[in-house]
Amino acid sequence: MSDLIESPATTDDALDALVAEAEARLSAAPDVTTLENEKARFVGKGGVFTEMLKGLGRLDPEARRTEGARINAAKSRFEAFLKLARELLARQQLDVKLSAEAIDVTLPGRGLVGGGIHPVMRTWRRVEEIFRSIGFDVADGPEIETDWMSFTALNNPENHPARSMQDTFYVDIDDPEGRPLNLRPHTSPMQVRYARMHAERMRDETGASRGITDIKVIAPGRTYRIDSDATHSPMFHQVEGLWLGEDISFADLKGVYTAFLEAFFETAALSVRFRPSYFPFTEPSAEIDMRFETGPLAGRWLEISGSGQVHPSVVTNFGLDPEKHIGFAFGSGIERLAMLRYGVDDLRLFYEGDLRFLEQFQ
Ligand code: DAH
Repeated sequence: MSDLIESPATTDDALDALVAEAEARLSAAPDVTTLENEKARFVGKGGVFTEMLKGLGRLDPEARRTEGARINAAKSRFEAFLKLARELLARQQLDVKLSAEAIDVTLPGRGLVGGGIHPVMRTWRRVEEIFRSIGFDVADGPEIETDWMSFTALNNPENHPARSMQDTFYVDIDDPEGRPLNLRPHTSPMQVRYARMHAERMRDETGASRGITDIKVIAPGRTYRIDSDATHSPMFHQVEGLWLGEDISFADLKGVYTAFLEAFFETAALSVRFRPSYFPFTEPSAEIDMRFETGPLAGRWLEISGSGQVHPSVVTNFGLDPEKHIGFAFGSGIERLAMLRYGVDDLRLFYEGDLRFLEQFQ
């Protein structure tokens, strides 16, 4: 403390000078740490006022009393000023903080980036629009399915090798019959759900059929398989189609699906072929292939959908009479349709969330 004062203050002038110096130092402190260090310099252990009060012991009792009172008065002035200095500093710091956080509400906006519809959803909507325009209803159903709906009702009995056409995800909860639930590997269970609902509605109070009315529906939605590469994703989208009536034939399938493709790709310059195939739920079954006559993909046959005439046992599982209800079904991949329409060669691009890719569709 030798830089402050040479000897204990004994005169009023010296005490005044000490308080003035202390006040100057406190006022100059830019932050709390400096302020508290300055405080220690004066009233801390070994501080100037502390040392002065300690020195009182050497004085006689009379002098000790008057000297002590003067020193304590000076120390009180110091402490009062310290209190003010602390409050001032706290307020200044709050001001700094508030102005740093201030928002200028008069500034112009930074520009809003509009969101857009994902190309897969765009395709989904487009498919719905086209089928609605040719008289199809649109249905939606659960993504967690029972074994019966996903397989058995579709003529795909337990342990039948055809089940391995689909590498299925199972859920750790059983259906009421004790079989594991699955994430539906295709939208085909929606044929069963929709047709059974329809069959229910078509029965009168006695349980007799009210006669035949067509079932004409598509069911787009999410589907799941243990599959992942450039053309397969563990979650993907399909659209199921079903048209059942008194006399719906394979020729109707050809007509409807060809009309759909022409509308979807906005061109009549395409060929469609139905290549014999196998699905447990249809007989006969066909893969639908298409070929563009113009454009970058021209001349190549492209597989686009599974299809067929609904198998009589499946019609029975619908709760309908296969002698009376016949018709066709199909199941197409929505990503596949989107890839062909937009010329995307890797399906994984749809799910990476890369804006550079997605913005191209807006
Ligand atoms: N469910 C089949 C699959 O995911 C596709 C399919 C084929 C659906 C033929 C149908 C159909 O409705 O008739 O591989």
